[in-house]
Order: sequence, then structure tokens, then C-alpha cells
Amino acid sequence: MIDLDLMSDEQIKKMDSEYCSFGDTVHYSKDPKVFRACEGSFMYDAKDIPYLDLQMWYATCNFGYKNKRIINAVIDQLNTMPQITPKFIYDYKPMLAKKIADANYKRFGEKGRVHFNIGGAQAIEDAIKLVRNYTHRNGMFAFMGGYHGRTIGASCITSSFRYRERYGHFGDRAQFVPFPYCFRCHYGKKCENCDFYCVKQFAKNFESEYNSFYDKATGECEYKAFIAEPCLGTGGYINPPAGYFKELKKVLDEFGIMLVIDEIQMGMFRTGKLWAIEHFGITPDVMTFAKSITNGMNPLAGFWAKEKYIAPDVFVPGSAHSTYASNPIGMRAGYEVMSIVEEQQADFEHDIPIKSARFMEGLKALKAKYKNIGDVGGIGFALRIEITEKDGFTPNKKLCDAIQEEGLKGDLIYNGKKCGLVLNNGGFYKNIITLVPSLYITNEEIDMAIDLLDQLFKRFD
Ligand SMILES: Cc1ncc(COP(=O)(O)O)c(C=O)c1O
Repeated sequence: MIDLDLMSDEQIKKMDSEYCSFGDTVHYSKDPKVFRACEGSFMYDAKDIPYLDLQMWYATCNFGYKNKRIINAVIDQLNTMPQITPKFIYDYKPMLAKKIADANYKRFGEKGRVHFNIGGAQAIEDAIKLVRNYTHRNGMFAFMGGYHGRTIGASCITSSFRYRERYGHFGDRAQFVPFPYCFRCHYGKKCENCDFYCVKQFAKNFESEYNSFYDKATGECEYKAFIAEPCLGTGGYINPPAGYFKELKKVLDEFGIMLVIDEIQMGMFRTGKLWAIEHFGITPDVMTFAKSITNGMNPLAGFWAKEKYIAPDVFVPGSAHSTYASNPIGMRAGYEVMSIVEEQQADFEHDIPIKSARFMEGLKALKAKYKNIGDVGGIGFALRIEITEKDGFTPNKKLCDAIQEEGLKGDLIYNGKKCGLVLNNGGFYKNIITLVPSLYITNEEIDMAIDLLDQLFKRFD
């Protein structure tokens, strides 16, 4: 499968370290791994050792690596019309927009339109422009632990100061609100009996003009939008408790605050539904998407918005244009992915919860076995292992990093053969292993994942 006459890993790494900016990477490891091939749920190194991948390019390849159907659609587009300026119209752009708009109409009963751009952060920038255009205000609420990208505007609504520390603000910094991370509640409450204390604290902001957000006399709010991931992605695959978003939405509606839901990481059936927000019974005003909309075959991102915010006489031509925004390769890949989603929706909705339960059962058994696992949880195929000291609570980033490095050595054994495990981490303390398998992961691969995790935890016990 692999041509061993290719450059050696060492040669590739040397060239990378000499000529490439590290600014566009997340090369936090001193010795980043080189991979040569990928297929289904696996990555392969130069020795053809398979590594079960439980991060799938940060939820960008939900439909499996090298998905033939999507690749063939891209090849067909390359052979028909691979290039066209966005000044003109061609078939697959409105065809993809219609698929997304129809899917949302079916789910939310709302008519809307779809806006495209390339990477996720650019879709976020464009959504911020849409909000500002409609509300004539800059201020937004966002979640602590939320992640929306690293462009200047997107990093101003992403809570981590680390992303702004060197570059300052060119956009308005959001007002950050605690996410309902119940294992480590911001207010020290217990989820079972808190009665949505965090939502009540948020609502207090609007009680008096002296709390700085709201003028009761005019009914005007200084912050007119809330951007939210439905479940935290980079923040550690943390899902909110049932009922949380309904409670929050009541407050937003009372004070005329738009809700922008960022589905860039949690959308495309990652949680067992097309959009994660569907689990929580509310309708967003705007919804961003990216990553798996093309299964990583071409950068494409965008947002859906309710008609009143995005109608062409409101969000006018040129509002957020970019040369590559509606590139035909991305559109064609996106169209194929949305076709898969339509055709296989019933299977995904049936299979993912069942397989997720199998995965969770394995994770719970690991938690019972290893004191360094403080919590396991998640929804659908957005699962997490919270790694702690042996007290079951104090975050243990060192161990989390060590486990990931160990998985990449490629010396685990499954069914008598050498293999590895590709993991990623997230969370407020970067101590959470986020488990993001292919949506097509088989039961056997789930059992393999649990076995390999067991081998890794055993090495550090
Ligand atoms: C929820 C969310 N929003 C936005 C982004 C930014 O997307 P991109 O990395 O494509 O700019 C990400 C990326 O991980 C994300 O997870």
C-alpha cells in the first residue's frame, strides 16, 4: 500500500522544521507523528502499522477516511467544471443550499437561506457580520470554554485568553458566560438539585440597567446575540444537562437576544442527529457549519439563517464575500455529504445511540478500573474521558498528554498484531480525551478502542 521509496519520516520532519511556519499548526508535541495513508477508521505510518483514529481530524471526517462516494463526486466535478468565479451561478451551489435549507425547514419549521465561505472561523466572522448588520450592535455573549476559531474576530468570542494574548482585539471581546459543565460547576452546585442556577445568574444581568446590559425603559439590550456551541467541542466534549437550552432560550427571547448556534464541530450527526441542537428542543436564529460538511475533502463552511436576517435586501450582495467562498469542488463534496445524510439518516439515528451505549459501557468499565479516570460522558459519538489525579477530580494534563504520545508509538497489540491509537484532548484544563470516531465505526472497532485504551491506562497505572 505504501511506497517505501518515499522520503523517510526523518527527512520529512527535517524539511518541515526548516521551511514551515508552526503558526498554522498545533505542533505542541516535540516530535510530531508522520502518517502516510488513511482509510475508514485508520491512519497508517511508514511501516504500514494501522492506528485506530478516535479524533477523525477533529470531527472533519465523520463519514470515514477516503470515503469513496465523496471522492468520486469530487473527481467528477474536477472533470466537469472545477473552476468558476462566484460572480456567476452554477448548479451545485443552490442545490447544496436547498438541501441544507430543506433539512432545517423539516427540523425547525423555519424558512431560511444558506451563506458559504471557506474555513470555520470565516463562517463565524461572516455570522458576526450578519448579527451586527441586523442588530446594529457589536456585543455578543459567548460561553466560557467555547471555541469558534482563530481569526481576529473569532478569537474575540472564543473564551481562552491564550488565543488573544499576543494579538490583542480587533473585534469586540465577548461577554463570557459559564457553560453548564456540571462535573466542575462554575458555581459549585450539584446538577441534581441546582434548578438551573447558572441560567438564573445569567438572567440577573437584565434586572437593572446598573448591571450594564439592559435598559428597561427602552427595552434595548447592549448585547444582542449569544453565540453557543450546543456541546463544547474543544472545551472537552461536554454536553449540557437536559432542559438547559430551553431555560436559556426563555431569557434570550425575553430580552430580544439572537441565538447563533455553532455546529462546526458537533453537527453532521456527530451526536446522533444532523445538528446537536436538535437534542435540546430549541430553534436557533443562525447556525454555522464546516468541517464534515465536505468530510474534509475541500474547505467549505457557512451558515444558515432565518429569512428575516439573511434576505438579500437585508444582508446585501458583497456583505461577506471571499474568492473561494462558493468553490465548485467544495459544493460538490458538500452536496454528496448532504445526500448521504438524507439517505442514511434513519440508519444514523438508529445505529449511533446503540453503538454509543456500547462505547460508554466500555468507558464506564475503564473508569471503574482506573482511579485516574474522574469522569466519562458525552452524547452520540461525542464522548469524553476526564483524566485526573487518583483523587478522581484534580485535572491531570500530564497524564493526558502522556497517554496520547504513547498511543502514537504504534506498539500496542490487538489480535496479535501491532497497532496504535490516535487521540486528541480538550477541556478547560486540557485533561480530557475527546473521543470522536468515524460514524461508521464497527462494533469490533469499538471493542478494539476500549482494549487499546485499557492497554494505555495500564502502562501508567
Ligand atoms: C465549534 C467550532 N467553531 C469554529 C471552529 C473553527 O473552525 P476552523 O478551524 O475551520 O477555522 C472550530 C474548529 O475546531 C470549532 O470546533
